[in-house]
Amino acid sequence: MTANDRANGGIALVTGAGSGIGKAVALALLQGGWRVALAGRRIEPLDEVARSAGAGRALPVATDVSRPESVAALFARINEVFGRIDLLFNNAGVSGIGTGFEDIAFETWQNVVDTNLTGSFLCAQGAFKMMKDQQPQGGRIINNGSISAHAPRPNSAPYTATKHAITGLTKSISLDGRKYNIACGQIDIGNALTELAAPMRRGVPQANGEIAVEPMMDVREVADAVLHMAALPLSTNVQFMTIMATKMPFVGRG
Ligand SMILES: NC(=O)c1ccc[n+]([C@@H]2O[C@H](COP(=O)([O-])OP(=O)(O)OC[C@H]3O[C@@H](n4cnc5c(N)ncnc54)[C@H](OP(=O)(O)O)[C@@H]3O)[C@@H](O)[C@H]2O)c1
Repeated sequence: MTANDRANGGIALVTGAGSGIGKAVALALLQGGWRVALAGRRIEPLDEVARSAGAGRALPVATDVSRPESVAALFARINEVFGRIDLLFNNAGVSGIGTGFEDIAFETWQNVVDTNLTGSFLCAQGAFKMMKDQQPQGGRIINNGSISAHAPRPNSAPYTATKHAITGLTKSISLDGRKYNIACGQIDIGNALTELAAPMRRGVPQANGEIAVEPMMDVREVADAVLHMAALPLSTNVQFMTIMATKMPFVGRG
Protein backbone atom coordinates (compact mmCIF):
# COMPACT_ATOMS: atom_id res chain seq x y z
CA MET A 1 0.00 0.00 0.00
CA THR A 2 1.54 3.33 -1.05
CA ALA A 3 1.28 6.66 0.77
CA ASN A 4 -1.14 7.74 -1.93
CA ASP A 5 -3.36 4.67 -1.38
CA ARG A 6 -3.34 5.31 2.35
CA ALA A 7 -4.38 8.91 1.90
CA ASN A 8 -7.25 7.77 -0.30
CA GLY A 9 -9.05 5.12 1.68
CA GLY A 10 -6.58 3.98 4.33
CA ILE A 11 -8.12 2.78 7.58
CA ALA A 12 -7.49 4.79 10.75
CA LEU A 13 -8.48 4.48 14.40
CA VAL A 14 -8.68 7.61 16.54
CA THR A 15 -9.22 7.20 20.29
CA GLY A 16 -10.87 10.04 22.18
CA ALA A 17 -12.44 10.99 18.84
CA GLY A 18 -15.55 12.67 20.26
CA SER A 19 -13.91 15.88 21.45
CA GLY A 20 -10.90 18.17 21.31
CA ILE A 21 -7.79 17.00 19.48
CA GLY A 22 -9.20 13.56 18.66
CA LYS A 23 -12.30 15.06 17.05
CA ALA A 24 -10.25 17.57 15.02
CA VAL A 25 -7.90 14.81 13.81
CA ALA A 26 -10.78 12.41 12.99
CA LEU A 27 -12.56 15.10 10.95
CA ALA A 28 -9.34 16.01 9.11
CA LEU A 29 -8.64 12.35 8.29
CA LEU A 30 -12.22 11.86 7.03
CA GLN A 31 -11.89 14.97 4.88
CA GLY A 32 -8.56 13.61 3.63
CA GLY A 33 -10.20 10.43 2.33
CA TRP A 34 -9.47 8.04 5.20
CA ARG A 35 -12.05 5.70 6.69
CA VAL A 36 -11.96 6.18 10.44
CA ALA A 37 -12.97 4.10 13.47
CA LEU A 38 -13.93 6.49 16.28
CA ALA A 39 -13.44 5.35 19.89
CA GLY A 40 -14.39 6.94 23.20
CA ARG A 41 -16.55 6.04 26.19
CA ARG A 42 -19.56 8.19 25.19
CA ILE A 43 -21.21 7.14 21.93
CA GLU A 44 -23.16 10.40 21.29
CA PRO A 45 -20.17 12.62 20.43
CA LEU A 46 -18.73 9.82 18.25
CA ASP A 47 -22.04 9.53 16.38
CA GLU A 48 -21.99 13.29 15.84
CA VAL A 49 -18.52 13.15 14.26
CA ALA A 50 -19.63 10.17 12.13
CA ARG A 51 -22.70 12.07 10.86
CA SER A 52 -20.44 14.63 9.20
CA ALA A 53 -18.77 11.88 7.11
CA GLY A 54 -20.15 10.04 4.09
CA ALA A 55 -21.98 6.73 4.62
CA GLY A 56 -19.65 3.87 5.55
CA ARG A 57 -16.63 6.11 6.12
CA ALA A 58 -16.78 6.37 9.93
CA LEU A 59 -17.28 3.64 12.50
CA PRO A 60 -18.20 4.87 16.00
CA VAL A 61 -17.44 2.27 18.69
CA ALA A 62 -18.10 2.99 22.39
CA THR A 63 -14.85 1.93 24.05
CA ASP A 64 -13.12 2.29 27.39
CA VAL A 65 -9.44 2.15 26.44
CA SER A 66 -8.45 1.28 30.03
CA ARG A 67 -10.27 -2.08 29.85
CA PRO A 68 -8.66 -4.95 27.90
CA GLU A 69 -12.00 -6.58 26.97
CA SER A 70 -13.35 -3.27 25.63
CA VAL A 71 -10.24 -2.71 23.48
CA ALA A 72 -10.39 -6.32 22.22
CA ALA A 73 -14.03 -5.74 21.16
CA LEU A 74 -12.98 -2.50 19.38
CA PHE A 75 -10.34 -4.27 17.26
CA ALA A 76 -12.69 -7.18 16.53
CA ARG A 77 -15.22 -4.65 15.17
CA ILE A 78 -12.55 -2.87 13.06
CA ASN A 79 -11.46 -6.21 11.65
CA GLU A 80 -15.05 -7.18 10.88
CA VAL A 81 -15.98 -3.91 9.15
CA PHE A 82 -12.70 -2.73 7.54
CA GLY A 83 -10.50 -5.87 7.57
CA ARG A 84 -7.28 -3.94 8.24
CA ILE A 85 -5.78 -0.91 10.02
CA ASP A 86 -3.21 1.53 8.60
CA LEU A 87 -3.08 4.18 11.32
CA LEU A 88 -3.72 4.44 15.04
CA PHE A 89 -3.85 7.89 16.62
CA ASN A 90 -3.49 6.94 20.29
CA ASN A 91 -5.04 10.05 21.79
CA ALA A 92 -7.57 9.30 24.58
CA GLY A 93 -6.40 10.83 27.84
CA VAL A 94 -7.35 12.49 31.11
CA SER A 95 -5.49 15.17 33.04
CA GLY A 96 -6.06 14.70 36.77
CA ILE A 97 -3.94 17.82 37.32
CA GLY A 98 -4.41 20.14 40.30
CA THR A 99 -3.78 18.29 43.56
CA GLY A 100 -0.65 18.76 45.67
CA PHE A 101 1.62 15.71 45.47
CA GLU A 102 1.03 14.71 49.10
CA ASP A 103 -2.77 14.70 48.62
CA ILE A 104 -3.09 12.76 45.34
CA ALA A 105 -5.69 10.02 45.91
CA PHE A 106 -4.72 6.53 44.85
CA GLU A 107 -7.89 6.39 42.71
CA THR A 108 -6.76 9.51 40.79
CA TRP A 109 -3.32 8.03 40.18
CA GLN A 110 -4.86 4.74 39.05
CA ASN A 111 -7.38 6.38 36.72
CA VAL A 112 -4.74 8.53 34.99
CA VAL A 113 -2.33 5.57 34.63
CA ASP A 114 -5.12 3.23 33.44
CA THR A 115 -6.32 5.70 30.80
CA ASN A 116 -3.17 7.45 29.57
CA LEU A 117 -0.63 4.64 29.82
CA THR A 118 -2.43 1.29 29.96
CA GLY A 119 -5.02 2.51 27.45
CA SER A 120 -2.29 3.61 25.04
CA PHE A 121 -0.51 0.28 25.46
CA LEU A 122 -3.67 -1.79 24.89
CA CYS A 123 -4.64 0.14 21.74
CA ALA A 124 -1.08 0.07 20.40
CA GLN A 125 -0.89 -3.67 20.97
CA GLY A 126 -4.25 -4.26 19.26
CA ALA A 127 -3.12 -2.20 16.24
CA PHE A 128 0.35 -3.77 16.22
CA LYS A 129 -1.09 -7.31 16.03
CA MET A 130 -3.39 -6.42 13.13
CA MET A 131 -0.63 -4.52 11.29
CA LYS A 132 1.74 -7.46 11.72
CA ASP A 133 -0.76 -10.02 10.39
CA GLN A 134 -2.35 -8.08 7.51
CA GLN A 135 -1.32 -7.96 3.83
CA PRO A 136 0.24 -5.64 2.83
CA GLN A 137 1.94 -5.79 6.22
CA GLY A 138 2.53 -2.74 8.41
CA GLY A 139 1.05 0.58 9.45
CA ARG A 140 1.69 3.60 11.63
CA ILE A 141 1.03 4.38 15.29
CA ILE A 142 1.08 8.01 16.46
CA ASN A 143 1.08 8.43 20.23
CA ASN A 144 -0.19 11.64 21.75
CA GLY A 145 2.39 12.69 24.33
CA SER A 146 2.53 16.26 25.66
CA ILE A 147 4.83 19.06 26.69
CA SER A 148 4.39 17.17 29.99
CA ALA A 149 6.46 14.37 28.41
CA HIS A 150 9.36 16.85 28.80
CA ALA A 151 8.57 19.09 31.80
CA PRO A 152 5.90 19.01 34.54
CA ARG A 153 3.35 21.58 35.51
CA PRO A 154 2.90 22.10 39.27
CA ASN A 155 0.72 19.43 40.91
CA SER A 156 0.69 17.07 37.93
CA ALA A 157 2.59 13.92 38.97
CA PRO A 158 0.15 11.31 37.56
CA TYR A 159 -0.23 13.13 34.23
CA THR A 160 3.48 13.93 33.90
CA ALA A 161 4.53 10.39 34.84
CA THR A 162 2.21 8.85 32.25
CA LYS A 163 3.27 11.27 29.52
CA HIS A 164 6.97 10.58 30.18
CA ALA A 165 6.08 6.88 29.99
CA ILE A 166 4.45 7.43 26.58
CA THR A 167 7.90 8.41 25.28
CA GLY A 168 9.23 5.01 26.34
CA LEU A 169 6.25 3.30 24.74
CA THR A 170 6.87 5.20 21.48
CA LYS A 171 10.55 4.24 21.40
CA SER A 172 9.79 0.58 22.15
CA ILE A 173 7.11 0.32 19.47
CA SER A 174 9.42 2.06 16.97
CA LEU A 175 12.10 -0.54 17.63
CA ASP A 176 9.89 -3.64 17.89
CA GLY A 177 7.80 -2.57 14.88
CA ARG A 178 10.71 -2.33 12.43
CA LYS A 179 10.59 -5.98 11.41
CA TYR A 180 6.87 -5.76 10.58
CA ASN A 181 6.97 -2.43 8.68
CA ILE A 182 5.26 -0.65 11.60
CA ALA A 183 6.31 2.99 12.10
CA CYS A 184 5.69 4.75 15.40
CA GLY A 185 5.96 8.45 16.20
CA GLN A 186 4.88 10.84 18.94
CA ILE A 187 3.34 14.28 18.88
CA ASP A 188 3.96 16.46 21.93
CA ILE A 189 1.37 19.21 22.07
CA GLY A 190 1.37 22.38 24.15
CA ASN A 191 -1.80 24.40 24.79
CA ALA A 192 -4.24 23.48 22.02
CA LEU A 193 -7.59 24.99 22.92
CA THR A 194 -9.82 22.04 23.99
CA GLU A 195 -11.98 21.17 26.99
CA LEU A 196 -8.97 19.62 28.71
CA ALA A 197 -6.81 22.72 28.16
CA ALA A 198 -9.55 25.34 28.75
CA PRO A 199 -8.28 26.20 32.29
CA MET A 200 -5.13 27.73 30.69
CA ARG A 201 -7.30 30.58 29.44
CA ARG A 202 -8.58 31.30 32.94
CA GLY A 203 -5.11 31.17 34.51
CA VAL A 204 -3.12 28.21 35.84
CA PRO A 205 -0.38 27.79 38.48
CA GLN A 206 3.17 28.47 37.32
CA ALA A 207 6.44 27.07 38.67
CA ASN A 208 7.01 30.23 40.76
CA GLY A 209 3.59 29.97 42.41
CA GLU A 210 1.95 32.74 40.37
CA ILE A 211 -1.28 32.18 38.44
CA ALA A 212 -1.01 33.15 34.77
CA VAL A 213 -3.21 33.07 31.70
CA GLU A 214 -1.32 31.17 28.98
CA PRO A 215 -1.24 31.61 25.19
CA MET A 216 -3.20 28.97 23.28
CA MET A 217 -3.20 27.64 19.71
CA ASP A 218 -5.99 26.42 17.45
CA VAL A 219 -6.62 22.69 17.55
CA ARG A 220 -6.74 22.63 13.72
CA GLU A 221 -2.96 23.25 13.65
CA VAL A 222 -2.55 20.00 15.58
CA ALA A 223 -4.84 18.15 13.16
CA ASP A 224 -2.75 19.37 10.20
CA ALA A 225 0.44 18.20 11.92
CA VAL A 226 -0.99 14.72 12.61
CA LEU A 227 -2.22 14.49 9.02
CA HIS A 228 1.29 15.28 7.79
CA MET A 229 2.76 12.51 9.99
CA ALA A 230 0.02 10.08 8.89
CA ALA A 231 0.41 10.65 5.14
CA LEU A 232 4.14 9.85 4.98
CA PRO A 233 5.19 6.58 3.32
CA LEU A 234 6.01 3.86 5.89
CA SER A 235 9.69 4.17 4.92
CA THR A 236 9.66 7.64 6.56
CA ASN A 237 8.74 8.58 10.12
CA VAL A 238 8.39 11.70 12.22
CA GLN A 239 9.78 10.14 15.41
CA PHE A 240 8.96 13.13 17.66
CA MET A 241 7.22 16.39 16.92
CA THR A 242 6.64 19.21 19.43
CA ILE A 243 3.87 21.62 18.44
CA MET A 244 2.95 24.34 20.91
CA ALA A 245 1.56 27.81 21.36
CA THR A 246 4.64 29.84 20.43
CA LYS A 247 4.70 31.98 23.59
CA MET A 248 3.58 29.44 26.19
CA PRO A 249 5.93 28.97 29.16
CA PHE A 250 8.22 26.03 28.27
CA VAL A 251 11.59 27.09 26.89
CA GLY A 252 13.67 29.68 28.75
CA ARG A 253 12.86 28.17 32.19
CA GLY A 254 9.32 29.42 32.30
N1 LIG B 1 -5.13 20.16 24.66
C1 LIG B 1 -3.82 20.24 24.85
O1 LIG B 1 -3.24 21.33 24.86
C2 LIG B 1 -3.01 19.00 25.07
C3 LIG B 1 -1.65 19.16 25.33
C4 LIG B 1 -0.88 18.03 25.48
C5 LIG B 1 -1.44 16.78 25.37
N2 LIG B 1 -2.77 16.65 25.14
C6 LIG B 1 -3.31 15.30 25.04
O2 LIG B 1 -4.26 15.22 24.00
C7 LIG B 1 -5.19 14.17 24.29
C8 LIG B 1 -6.60 14.67 24.05
O3 LIG B 1 -6.84 15.76 24.89
P1 LIG B 1 -7.85 16.95 24.57
O4 LIG B 1 -7.16 18.20 24.93
O5 LIG B 1 -8.40 16.78 23.21
O6 LIG B 1 -8.94 16.70 25.71
P2 LIG B 1 -10.47 16.18 25.69
O7 LIG B 1 -11.28 17.02 24.77
O8 LIG B 1 -10.86 16.08 27.11
O9 LIG B 1 -10.35 14.74 25.03
C9 LIG B 1 -10.07 13.57 25.73
C10 LIG B 1 -10.81 12.44 25.03
O10 LIG B 1 -10.42 11.18 25.60
C11 LIG B 1 -11.59 10.39 25.77
N3 LIG B 1 -11.36 9.46 26.89
C12 LIG B 1 -11.06 9.77 28.17
N4 LIG B 1 -10.96 8.64 28.89
C13 LIG B 1 -11.20 7.60 28.04
C14 LIG B 1 -11.28 6.20 28.19
N5 LIG B 1 -11.05 5.58 29.39
N6 LIG B 1 -11.57 5.44 27.11
C15 LIG B 1 -11.80 6.02 25.90
N7 LIG B 1 -11.75 7.34 25.70
C16 LIG B 1 -11.46 8.12 26.76
C17 LIG B 1 -12.72 11.36 26.04
O11 LIG B 1 -13.98 10.85 25.61
P3 LIG B 1 -15.01 10.12 26.63
O12 LIG B 1 -15.07 11.01 27.84
O13 LIG B 1 -16.29 10.03 25.86
O14 LIG B 1 -14.41 8.78 26.89
C18 LIG B 1 -12.33 12.56 25.17
O15 LIG B 1 -12.91 12.48 23.89
C19 LIG B 1 -4.88 13.71 25.72
O16 LIG B 1 -4.09 12.53 25.68
C20 LIG B 1 -4.07 14.86 26.27
O17 LIG B 1 -3.20 14.46 27.30
C21 LIG B 1 -3.58 17.75 25.00
